[in-house]
Amino acid sequence: MNLATTYMGIPLSSPMIVGSSPLTEDLDLVKRLEDAGAAALVLPSLYEEEVTGEQMSDFFSSETHEDSFPEATSYLPDPDTAPGDQYLEHLRRVKQAVGIPVIASLNGSTPGGWTFHASLMEQAGADAIELHLYHAASDPELSSAEVERQMLQTVWDIKGAVDIPIAVKLSPLFTAFANFALQIDKAGANAIVLFTRFHKVDFDVIELEVLRRVELSSSADLDLRLRGTAVLAGRVKASLGITGGVHSALDVIKANMAGAHVVQIVSALMRHGPGYLKTLRTEVEAWMIANEWSSLEEMRGNMSFQRIPNPAVYERETFRRMFQ
Ligand SMILES: Cc1cc2nc3c(=O)[nH]c(=O)nc-3n(C[C@H](O)[C@H](O)[C@H](O)COP(=O)(O)O)c2cc1C
Repeated sequence: MNLATTYMGIPLSSPMIVGSSPLTEDLDLVKRLEDAGAAALVLPSLYEEEVTGEQMSDFFSSETHEDSFPEATSYLPDPDTAPGDQYLEHLRRVKQAVGIPVIASLNGSTPGGWTFHASLMEQAGADAIELHLYHAASDPELSSAEVERQMLQTVWDIKGAVDIPIAVKLSPLFTAFANFALQIDKAGANAIVLFTRFHKVDFDVIELEVLRRVELSSSADLDLRLRGTAVLAGRVKASLGITGGVHSALDVIKANMAGAHVVQIVSALMRHGPGYLKTLRTEVEAWMIANEWSSLEEMRGNMSFQRIPNPAVYERETFRRMFQ
């Protein structure tokens, strides 16, 4: 059974890759994930704030500035523990430990010097970079056009800094998501990854505190990603990846039919362990044999919007009928 796929021009043995998370933080675990059949790994993110923090620290630690800003000493970095350096060291170690492609991850949303880290990641051996574009957009003075302009500039900057492919991981919160994805595609992204999964936020109304927690997903999180992927399939040059809610073999099949070249799996592996990748592969193969498909390639995108003559009318109409 042929589960091979190509993601951002990189040939992979299967579409199942390990998403950015603590799973790829540990060297033993990444080896076990590779043994269990992970086709590639995405490392945890290095955040814009961590990098700009380093740059601030470098600035304050120069003698001149230390003198002029007495409070600067509280920012002084430990040069041995700068997050950017630690990140690159981890990347080098993971590259040495496994033979599968390793994708480094940067998380940010505004253009700036921090994007130079993409080039350091490339030099440290990353096979590709995933740029997780997340903007809180909570400043009412900042228009959506300006937020999108900053995000696009960030993609251009990183594209200009490296020769390896870049994937852009997007949130679903855009008014005209498909149009923005097309702009990301034109900016040269080699893959678009759908979607950021937000942490849960609640209030403690006695202590007046905001409570935040990261919860594992379920297959119920998949539908939003299937729709986003089905909208983009065949309309962008970039490869498509789904992250969020892939838990079963059927989820992998559905993602492929929507048009995804890869699925990134985190919660299911945190719940069941690395060996679950083998189970998924066996079950995907069994399903394909039972349903007479011989490759993912021939199956990909057969549930995408491309097969619908007028998707906007179709969506409005099915929405209307459901509530009547
Ligand atoms: C504990 C944890 C840590 C994560 N860390 C990152 C991260 O550093 N960068 C990132 O882009 N996504 C991160 N994610 C999000 C995952 O990469 C993934 O997009 C999300 O969990 C949805 O996939 P899933 O449904 O398979 O869990 C994290 C997720 C979890 C659960």
